[in-house]
Amino acid sequence: MELAVFGATGDTGRELTAQAGNRGHDIRALTRSPASFSTGSAITIIQGNVLDPEAVSATVEGVDAVCCLLGRTQNNPDDIVSRGTAHIVTAMERHCVERLVVLTSMGLGGSMCTVPWYVRLANATVLADLMADKARQEEQVMQSELDWTIVRPGGLTDEPRTGEYVHGVDVDVNAGPIPRADVAEFLLWVLENEQYVHEAPSLTTERDIDIPFLWDQATGVVQRLAGR
Ligand SMILES: NC(=O)c1ccc[n+]([C@@H]2O[C@H](COP(=O)([O-])OP(=O)(O)OC[C@H]3O[C@@H](n4cnc5c(N)ncnc54)[C@H](OP(=O)(O)O)[C@@H]3O)[C@@H](O)[C@H]2O)c1
Repeated sequence: MELAVFGATGDTGRELTAQAGNRGHDIRALTRSPASFSTGSAITIIQGNVLDPEAVSATVEGVDAVCCLLGRTQNNPDDIVSRGTAHIVTAMERHCVERLVVLTSMGLGGSMCTVPWYVRLANATVLADLMADKARQEEQVMQSELDWTIVRPGGLTDEPRTGEYVHGVDVDVNAGPIPRADVAEFLLWVLENEQYVHEAPSLTTERDIDIPFLWDQATGVVQRLAGR
């Protein structure tokens, strides 16, 4: 299939585009920094910002499906994720592209009650801004006429793919660490097999959340927000 990817230069995005390419999918990626892609990669790159509706429209036109992996990185307003997603939804409706898969976070919507208390505390304090933006993003997607799926992962790591993860709507799991490679694999499975249409599954592992993992997560978030 031809797949438009937003956030293809990010840590999950690089995994997803690599795996999608290996599975024979064609990728169109909107990016502010085309140099991030290795030369020779079989990706159609559209240089631009997701805050520019015309650039988003040019990325989406003619594709079979869209995958949104946007995150708040440097040189962005606080509401980058919801504003960018609004442009994506509008462009998809304009070009009659129906299938949208979006990566958000565990702790949103119905998954709030399944995450441990310290994740709820972090979401309500240091991550409050970020989570409010993602909550708006989820609302926009759910209110659209699209065939959407919202995937809510636990804490992302850069470990290799394991293939060992759990997913489901309202599954009783904590926000255990999950490699981005596994997340990418799951997102492609959802897209290829038309799974979870109009649903928001959580995606995580049954691994324990230990102190080093929490420390990595907390410092990662602080660094990202400080570098904004
Ligand atoms: N870290 C975690 O543990 C965790 C846990 C659960 C969920 N999540 C969520 O999962 C998603 C993916 O995470 P990640 O760590 O893989 O993402 P990431 O590395 O932060 O990548 C974010 C992507 O969004 C793109 N982007 C940001 N602003 C843009 C703009 N104005 N125009 C075009 N592209 C823009 C970035 O491109 P540029 O290179 O141009 O900035 C980058 O490709 C995020 O929504 C994140 O919040 C993360």
